Amino acid sequence: MSQTISPSAQQEAGPLPLRSRRGGALAGTVRVPGDKSISHRSLMLGGLAVGRTEVTGLLEGEDVVATAKAMTAMGAKVERIADGAPDGGPLWRIDGVGVGGLMEPADVLDMGNAGTGARLLMGLLATHDLTAVMTGDGSLRKRPMKRVTEPLSLFGARFMGRSGARLPMAIQGGAEPVPITYRVPMASAQVKSAVLLAGLNTPGKTTVIEPTPTRDHTERMLRHFGADLRVEDGDGGETVITLVGQPELIGGSIVVPADPSSAAFPLVAAVLVPDSHITLTGVGMNPQRIGLIETLREMGADILIRSPREEAGEPVADLEVRAAPLTGIEVPASRAPSMIDEYPILAVAASMARGETRMHGLGELRVKESDRLTAMAEGLAACGVSVEVDGDTLIVHGKSEPPMGGATVPVNLDHRIGMSFLVLGLITEEPVTIDDGRAIDTSFPGFAALMASLGATVDYVR
Ligand code: S3P
Repeated sequence: MSQTISPSAQQEAGPLPLRSRRGGALAGTVRVPGDKSISHRSLMLGGLAVGRTEVTGLLEGEDVVATAKAMTAMGAKVERIADGAPDGGPLWRIDGVGVGGLMEPADVLDMGNAGTGARLLMGLLATHDLTAVMTGDGSLRKRPMKRVTEPLSLFGARFMGRSGARLPMAIQGGAEPVPITYRVPMASAQVKSAVLLAGLNTPGKTTVIEPTPTRDHTERMLRHFGADLRVEDGDGGETVITLVGQPELIGGSIVVPADPSSAAFPLVAAVLVPDSHITLTGVGMNPQRIGLIETLREMGADILIRSPREEAGEPVADLEVRAAPLTGIEVPASRAPSMIDEYPILAVAASMARGETRMHGLGELRVKESDRLTAMAEGLAACGVSVEVDGDTLIVHGKSEPPMGGATVPVNLDHRIGMSFLVLGLITEEPVTIDDGRAIDTSFPGFAALMASLGATVDYVR
């Protein structure tokens, strides 16, 4: 694999403060980098398939690079061909080992900042007869893993991590895994996916019951590779997913859509910066990922969905966005799974709305790359926005005028907190600084340059 970025090398380089300031209208047509969730899954399933998988549009961010390195360490051949894609961009070529064919990694698997990479990979490891040790950066080492180790233990795997099941962790996969039926206790696509991926190398049927639907990229991609997977409606709105184990996955081609969670940043910037008009091309429109668009439209945003189409089993469209005044609304808890990563940037949008925006059911935000509920509340308050946290509800009191800004906000290794405050700085009276922009590379390499190409002012602080 030709490696582009090393997670640990980035951290050794020292903090990289970034600052954004108010300027003119945003204009232009851009494509944000590939979807992080789909990129991780394409490397994992490509690595388990028989034959060759070719991926275009892969996110070349640190999180995904960590997954590519881990799959390589376990025997898959992962290669980057610089201008191999039909559009002249990079092509990623993966020669898989076949389901059940992963080798024991000779060294520690360093997953960097990647919660998705770590948890999904644990699913794969859980049903291979091998021992592996996994670690990550300061953020990932704080995140709870019990939500995956608990169901994966039922397959016969053993886990030994720091207190509270945290990384670094030793994982001993079950030599003779047994299939399970598991009801996911929280809305989490990572937990659902970890169980399904463990079910891949388990004889018999593995069943996951989801109380609330979450992003179904794993299910779509498993089908795309030829797995026998059924999705049915259960009692009381539940979804029942059944996977027949030990299929032969067949390598093929994957087109990774632009990440809707990354598109969210220029999108909200264009809604907020007066007179802006931008187009975001090829954005993933998976129904479980578009809660932000629905919410912003309810608040009054002008977002047009153009040329809806399907690419490699995922819906995609172009988004045309114009600046518009927003009004505060009540965002129900039921919307959280379809926009779980978008609350930080929604809170920024709410700070410019007229009236109060109440976002309910945000408990899961406390266990993301950082405690996002606290980070948003404290950062917005430091920028002069009136904000409250009431249990799992975030309340932003918008005044329909630009907040003061002027603060330096700590990012705590959280890419989305960093990008959210840089978007806020595009509308505030005074510039907004983030203490360290390095984490942005985990999901959105080239963020500052892409925003600059639309006319935004985002600079390194010297
Ligand atoms: C993801 C699922 C979500 C999301 C994360 C990516 C995935 O996490 O926040 O960024 O790719 O499955 P949870 O499963 O913890 O909700």
